[in-house]
Amino acid sequence: MISIKNLHKSYTDSSAKQTVFENASYEFNSHGVYSVVGSSGSGKTTLLNLISGLDVFDKGSIEINGKNLDTLSIEAKSALRKVDFGFGYQFHYLLENLTIHENCIAACHGQDNSHIASILNKLGIDHIKNKFPSKVSGGEKQRASIARALAKQPKILILDEPTGNLDQENSLIVQNFLLNYASENKSLVIYATHDIAFAKRADKSLNIVERSILEK
Ligand SMILES: Nc1ncnc2c1ncn2[C@@H]1O[C@H](COP(=O)(O)OP(=O)(O)OP(=O)(O)O)[C@@H](O)[C@H]1O
Ligand SMILES: [Mg+2]
Repeated sequence: MISIKNLHKSYTDSSAKQTVFENASYEFNSHGVYSVVGSSGSGKTTLLNLISGLDVFDKGSIEINGKNLDTLSIEAKSALRKVDFGFGYQFHYLLENLTIHENCIAACHGQDNSHIASILNKLGIDHIKNKFPSKVSGGEKQRASIARALAKQPKILILDEPTGNLDQENSLIVQNFLLNYASENKSLVIYATHDIAFAKRADKSLNIVERSILEK
């Protein structure tokens, strides 16, 4: 379960302060599929980064399975991410010196990696598994990044615009795969998207409006 309470987050540049969340609260169940929508710049990526402990907030609290992120050391946060979380980002952080397959293996941190072949196959990127990220298309990279996020079968999967670079056919392949994954593994999947049809397929859809998180 992820519990967000009275969250405040602002960015301060040399010139101006921008408040992204003000007293925002929301409680995610321990499993289920949640979409996050909101206009560009509303705070979707920021929310995912805060939940993942990759960015810090100013006030309030975020608890992940009863652990308060604010009280965890950097090492403890990193351990939590390694064990419990899988991530797929808007700008895929695949390691350029590893093949797609090796990227997936690396993401397992020495744990069971026997699911990788099936994941690559289901995502339709089996044929590029031995290629380096720089040698594949944007859409293939995006699917590779999702495969990497899923390789260790995480209980919490965080995805930032997972279908953003995909054509309709591949978008549907990824959507179906993610929804199946969540129900088969009883995982919590949270994804940000601009695709309204995809957003509606989640169990719950959250909208970031006026610095708050609202259930639609
Ligand atoms: N590192 C940063 N420093 C300063 N401002 C930032 C930083 N990251 C994000 N912002 C600002 O915070 C606001 C929220 O950004 P965020 O990336 O969370 O939006 P988003 O909803 O994901 O947008 P998009 O749909 O375009 O991906 C934006 O106005 C953005 O300019
Ligand atoms: Mg974003």
